[in-house]
This record gives sequence, C-alpha cells and structure tokens, in this order.
Amino acid sequence: MYDYRIEAADKPELYRQLCQAADALTEGEPDPIANMANVAALLWESLPDLNWAGFYRNVGGELVLGPFQGRPACIRIPFGKGVCGAAAASLAPVCVADVLAFPGHIACDSASRSELVVPIVTEGALLAVLDLDSPSPACFDDADVAGCVELVQRLSGRFGGVANSSPGR
Ligand code: SME
Repeated sequence: MYDYRIEAADKPELYRQLCQAADALTEGEPDPIANMANVAALLWESLPDLNWAGFYRNVGGELVLGPFQGRPACIRIPFGKGVCGAAAASLAPVCVADVLAFPGHIACDSASRSELVVPIVTEGALLAVLDLDSPSPACFDDADVAGCVELVQRLSGRFGGVANSSPGR
C-alpha cells in the first residue's frame, strides 16, 4: 500500500526525502498515535544502523512509551532521567556518541551504543520526544540532528499539536 523508496547520496537529501514521505503518510490523518506509528516505521525502514526508533509522549509531565520499532522498551521515563528525560527537560535535542558514558542513560536495549533524542514542541510545550538508538558508537551527527529537528517541526501538528491536521508549512 505504501511504497516509499528513499535512496539518497547524503544525509540532507535523505532527510529531505524522509520529510516528504512522512508528510504524505500523515496527511489528513488527525490521530497522533497512528501518525507516530507510521513515522516510526518509516524511520526504521529508511535510516541505516538503528536498533530502536520511536516516540515517548508527554503524559502529565512524564514520558510514556509511544509507537516504536525495535525491542520492547521501558514504559515511563521521568523528565531529567536518561537521554530522553534530558531532552524533555531542556526542550533541546540531545545527541550522545557513547551512551555508556552518558550519566543516567537508561539501557532499554543493551545493544544500544549511541542515541539521538529530539523534543517535539508546540507553542512552547513538550508534546513528545523522538528517540533513535543505534548499536554503533557515534552513529548520529549534526546532519541527523538537523534532519530530525526539521522532521518533527514539520509534523508536530500531526503528532497532537495545535494545528492537528496541518503540516505547519
Ligand atoms: N535510552 C533511553 C531510554 C529509551 S530507549 O533507548 C528506547 C534513555 O536513556 O532515555
């Protein structure tokens, strides 16, 4: 039914295509969980070298496991705890080259070696975080941070933000 071929020579092009595909996949769908589920699956299929890709939602000031691909994960993460909690508390992306050296890292999957967490914010409030894990050290770089920030900014309205059925631009 959905057949997105994402073939890119470099990361900016990869994320440009990813944003387009995610926009098309979620267009007209108001349910945030359905949209997070499809975007998690798209990221899982399209980005190399991942062992986890998905979302934690802000439910009453606590991160609660949302749609994802990968091994079963911890369900609740307080703000400020682990990489996800650090991104939630600071409202800024957190890119960790070596999770074993990150104080308080939560090892849901012992295979994880590096991690990127990007907060999804609408009107100054945290909606959720996007979490990517890799079994390779230093898998994520500035291009991944920029690409994921662009992705969640474009789609925040479809993840439960104010402009619920609009991509924002
Ligand atoms: N490692 C994360 C926990 C979530 S899992 O990676 C899916 C963290 O430290 O917040």
